[in-house]
Amino acid sequence: MPFLFVYFVCFVVNSSDSLRPFMQDQLAALLAKASAELPALATRPEFEAAKARYVGPNGELTALMKQMGSVPKEQKPVVGKLVNEAKTALQAHLDAALSRIEAAELSAQLGPAVDPTLPSPDRGFGTHHPLTLVREEMTRILRKVGFSVVEGPEVETEYYCFDALNTPADHPARDAQDTFYLPESARFGNVSKKSPHEKYLLRTHTSSVQIRTMLKGQPPIRIVSPGRVYRRDTTDATHSANFHQLECLYVDKNVTVRDLKALLDYIFASLLGKDTKTRFRPHYFGYTEPSFEVDLSATHLPKVNKPWIEIGGCGMVDPVVFKDVGYDPEVWSGYAFGMGLERLAMLLYGIDDIRYFYQNDFRFLKQFA
Ligand code: DAH
Repeated sequence: MPFLFVYFVCFVVNSSDSLRPFMQDQLAALLAKASAELPALATRPEFEAAKARYVGPNGELTALMKQMGSVPKEQKPVVGKLVNEAKTALQAHLDAALSRIEAAELSAQLGPAVDPTLPSPDRGFGTHHPLTLVREEMTRILRKVGFSVVEGPEVETEYYCFDALNTPADHPARDAQDTFYLPESARFGNVSKKSPHEKYLLRTHTSSVQIRTMLKGQPPIRIVSPGRVYRRDTTDATHSANFHQLECLYVDKNVTVRDLKALLDYIFASLLGKDTKTRFRPHYFGYTEPSFEVDLSATHLPKVNKPWIEIGGCGMVDPVVFKDVGYDPEVWSGYAFGMGLERLAMLLYGIDDIRYFYQNDFRFLKQFA
């Protein structure tokens, strides 16, 4: 019971002149004890307990300080100074102990020290994802014939994704079963709505970039826009709710279906080899007239066991779309097409399941190094 002991002794010596040396001894003993004990503390609970023992309401230093009241007036300045010095020294010991414990806690959290200047322990350089490889190759091929790359937002409004593309409100593609609509409360600073009643959605195709590009400038236009698109598809070997498309738009004077066919022949021969053939099948898209689906024949590629494979949609830009963006359809003509990048990559590399693209399996990815 150090406190009682100190109190008792103080009481006895209270009125004597030896109070100052007595206090001095007590303080020195306390400091000696603290300087032996505090550096050995290893944990925060140990620290808190020790702190309470010294400077808490019932602490040893606190008990000594309480004796100041009994110190004769003339000794008060000297004894007070001693007590203050002891207090400062004790606090320094406590502070040092706490920062040591905190540092230990931090380094336990951080784990072993890392030297960031050492070479990486990884297994060599990374490589591009196969979808990146195909995207880069396609944009390279298209840049060679004058197309420039533009990007559009993945969050779109109904106007850019459907209305401006002549896709009426009751069109099945707009159904909530096929399209991911965002809640009314969603706000996007970089995508503005035409009307407050419009909904935000995740774009279902890259064709929205056609509209954004045409609204920004005047023809001639020659753009390619690769990017992510979203549909409420159930995932299987050939479907994914999130996949990638590549969109092209060409607007100029006297553009014909022949130009469109020639460009598609050129890009597919460049990407998949000169034996690749393309064919058009009549189809319907609201934003092109006439419209076609594009099939590829690339039987020279490994794992291609069908004579024709559907790869995308295309057509001549519908005059309605031109009017909507303020282009005179009597002056301007153009073609547009869109295709799935996954399907192209699957053809090119002989991949038979779309899910491989998104699993980040090292065994799959390293084949493209
Ligand atoms: N947007 C269509 C799709 O996602 C593809 C497409 C068809 C794009 C015709 C076009 C086009 O630019 O003219 O299936």
